Amino acid sequence: MKIAILSDIHEGLNRKRSGSDVFGLLQEWLDQHEPDVFIISGDMASGPEKSLGLLNRLQSGFPKTQVLYVHGNHDVYHEDAVDAYHKLLQFGGNLGNGPVDLNEEWVVIGDGGWYDYTLGMEEFTDEQFSAGQFNDFTWPDKIHVHWPENDRAITGKYLEKLENWLMANQEKNIILVNHFVPFAHFLQVKNDPAWDFFNAMMGSKGVGQLAEKYGVQKMIFGHIHTRYHEEYKGIDCICNPLGYFPHEWVHDTAHEEIGSTIKVIEI
Ligand SMILES: [Fe+2]
Ligand SMILES: [Fe+2]
Repeated sequence: MKIAILSDIHEGLNRKRSGSDVFGLLQEWLDQHEPDVFIISGDMASGPEKSLGLLNRLQSGFPKTQVLYVHGNHDVYHEDAVDAYHKLLQFGGNLGNGPVDLNEEWVVIGDGGWYDYTLGMEEFTDEQFSAGQFNDFTWPDKIHVHWPENDRAITGKYLEKLENWLMANQEKNIILVNHFVPFAHFLQVKNDPAWDFFNAMMGSKGVGQLAEKYGVQKMIFGHIHTRYHEEYKGIDCICNPLGYFPHEWVHDTAHEEIGSTIKVIEI
């Protein structure tokens, strides 16, 4: 079974910046490669309406490929993040709807998740992280995402949900999918507080702890626009973002970048 993996497509932003039909190129790639499963680990576009529309187009255009998805922070840019979350559940392949069996051995479990500052520097307080401001920069989620509870409480709910699903699927090989970073190992620490402060908003150690506790085979995430594929703590960890044009891209054209970035694994 061939599983294609990509995150952080940021469709509108990359289309505008690169002047390329990013979504059309993605469709072209799927048409040529026909993976059995396509896992998109968040940040499809900005706001739930756009992301939902693109996901539906993708799934209806490629019925032979099972499109699975978790939301990212950009997908829930909306005046009410809970509404956005539920809107995105309308996409059948949203893992927030529940685990998806790929076959008798493998199951995919996931949800978008959030961050709870457990990957943040100890020098700062929860209040500082919660305000999300360092020098003149405000973390954009603080402006564009509106949850009814604080970041820690929101993350806690995701962790609880994921743990219940993991517990119920212990007899299977598990692929765990989350938008945010599960292990501090994958963070960039620059020893510059103007950068490192925002590592608090990169993810939650809790997801990594669940991955270890329940012995998942593969952990797929995104959010940090740095590509990783390595075994860590016995888990096959894959972070495979498209990221922002141009500075995070390796190639000059969207065609080359998309074609060379999408990762295909076999199970
Ligand atoms: Fe992103
Ligand atoms: Fe993100």
